[in-house]
Amino acid sequence: MSLPNLAPIPELYVSHESALKLKAEAGNLPSWDLTARQICDLELLMNGGFYPLKGFLTEADYDGVVENMRLADGSLWPMPITLDVTEKFAEGIEPGQDIALRDQEGVILAILSVTDKWEPNKSREAEKVFGADDLAHPAVNYLHHTAGKIYLGGPITGIQQPVHYDFKARRDTPNELRAYFRKLGWRKIVAFQTRNPLHRAHQELTFRAAREAQANLMIHPVVGMTKPGDVDHFTRVRCYEAVLDKYPQSTTTMSLLNLAMRMAGPREAVWHGLIRRNHGCTHFIVGRDHAGPGKNSAGQDFYGPYDAQDLFKAHEEEIGVTMVDFKHMVYVQEKAQYYPANEVPEGCTVLDISGTELRRRLREGLEIPEWFSFPEVVTELRRTSPPRAQQGFTVFFTGLSGSGKSTIANALMVKLMEMGGRPVTLLDGDVVRKHLSSELGFSKEHRDINIKRIGYVASEITKNGGIAICAPIAPYTATRRAVREMIEAYGAFVEVHVATALEECEARDRKGLYKLAREGKIKEFTGISDPYEAPTAAELVVDTKDVDVDHCAHQVILKLESLGLIRA
Ligand code: PPS
Repeated sequence: MSLPNLAPIPELYVSHESALKLKAEAGNLPSWDLTARQICDLELLMNGGFYPLKGFLTEADYDGVVENMRLADGSLWPMPITLDVTEKFAEGIEPGQDIALRDQEGVILAILSVTDKWEPNKSREAEKVFGADDLAHPAVNYLHHTAGKIYLGGPITGIQQPVHYDFKARRDTPNELRAYFRKLGWRKIVAFQTRNPLHRAHQELTFRAAREAQANLMIHPVVGMTKPGDVDHFTRVRCYEAVLDKYPQSTTTMSLLNLAMRMAGPREAVWHGLIRRNHGCTHFIVGRDHAGPGKNSAGQDFYGPYDAQDLFKAHEEEIGVTMVDFKHMVYVQEKAQYYPANEVPEGCTVLDISGTELRRRLREGLEIPEWFSFPEVVTELRRTSPPRAQQGFTVFFTGLSGSGKSTIANALMVKLMEMGGRPVTLLDGDVVRKHLSSELGFSKEHRDINIKRIGYVASEITKNGGIAICAPIAPYTATRRAVREMIEAYGAFVEVHVATALEECEARDRKGLYKLAREGKIKEFTGISDPYEAPTAAELVVDTKDVDVDHCAHQVILKLESLGLIRA
């Protein structure tokens, strides 16, 4: 019997022979180097994971998706899958043209036949798709600060899959999964989407879901892009593998999904459902706060905890996948087992450890109880996240020229070296401009490049367990935020605002630059003829007026100690 969920799904790849031919020809086309997110999107476009999409959205499809979750032909599709490019690249491209899409090593993966080119209204996209034009939402921040200004749309001709070197055996295309389910005779499959390590509550939830739906279970973790700050996918996959043998082998499987999540809550749940349908699943688990992005800039949740379930339910038939909804699972001490939060027997003691609490315990090397997780998972997590005092971190000084950043940074470096334990690198503004950024000036564009270079180097140092001390002016909030994100993927980012007032810096004028700036001899001088956007949420603010350097450096040391980053 052929079941619609298990029949082969259309892919966008051409035959092997055509691919070889096209690849040779495509060498002459204008080419676009895909971003990490675009590579994830392209892979799922080409392998049928985003069926019925046949390429990057056209303007009409985009408008429909943004406005009412529908493509121009009326079919349900909640997420804009767009090819964003820079204005400069877009200038040379016109509808009717083909472009080669390359991965980060230059390998041609596909050809886009451009039919549409337009400048989107990003604020509208943010409001409609993510619920608010608020930069605290990771996808909105991406939209405004990472995505290019212009979108290109049109059909894709798939040449080859993006190359993966990790966990190859665990990655499956929709058609590979469909074939696998056919082979095993699985008719009903419930998928579990996750971007976190699996703990006991998840295991219980997935067991219950499979029982409820009388279905086989597929753990389908996202290994493309998840929420900034999540546990990296290498660690997570090792964790999944460690718990997989706790599931009955004959009814459960695991497959990795190279999806770039947007954390769009309700819309994302619908999108996830469609993607799972394409991967041959019949059921999908939607829990509490599905794909939630965290708090907005007013400190409130972007979406209600069960909004995703409601939106999914409303479109269940069209999605073609049955929702298995779950409340939050909690551990009931007296019963020594997990219950949905709304089914806890009266008078019982409920135990729960939030994600934040788990991170705190890992950071501080505290106990993680067995009722919460599996020892194998905890061991993996501890390997990746040693206690904070053994991790790398970055101290990022920002402030006007002459505010005292470099002097405090130098003092701090010496104090940290005196303590020992971790290598310390100082990336001072002047030093960086000499060794890393000698060709750059002080336009906004050049300052951004300069700061991002510093951020990149600091993130590498942090990743490898060292201490990076940066001391540029870094006048723009958005760039500092981008650097923070880069670094927080690997360790702590401690922003120190050296808030010495402009009058004081100018009065000192240690390098004589303020005088020249006032006379108009130096253009775009921070504080005089170029803005300084003061941080509003720095970890520490110091002012060097009437305070000696040693005291300021000591304040930083105390801050680092209170954050658990050093043991003084
Ligand atoms: S930025 O904006 O972060 O890229 O600047 P940064 O690399 O930290 O600047 C390093 C030093 O360059 C000197 N300088 C200027 N600063 C600001 N604006 C203009 N136009 C400018 N031209 C030269 C200045 O002395 C900075 O050094 P510090 O250590 O901050 O005094």
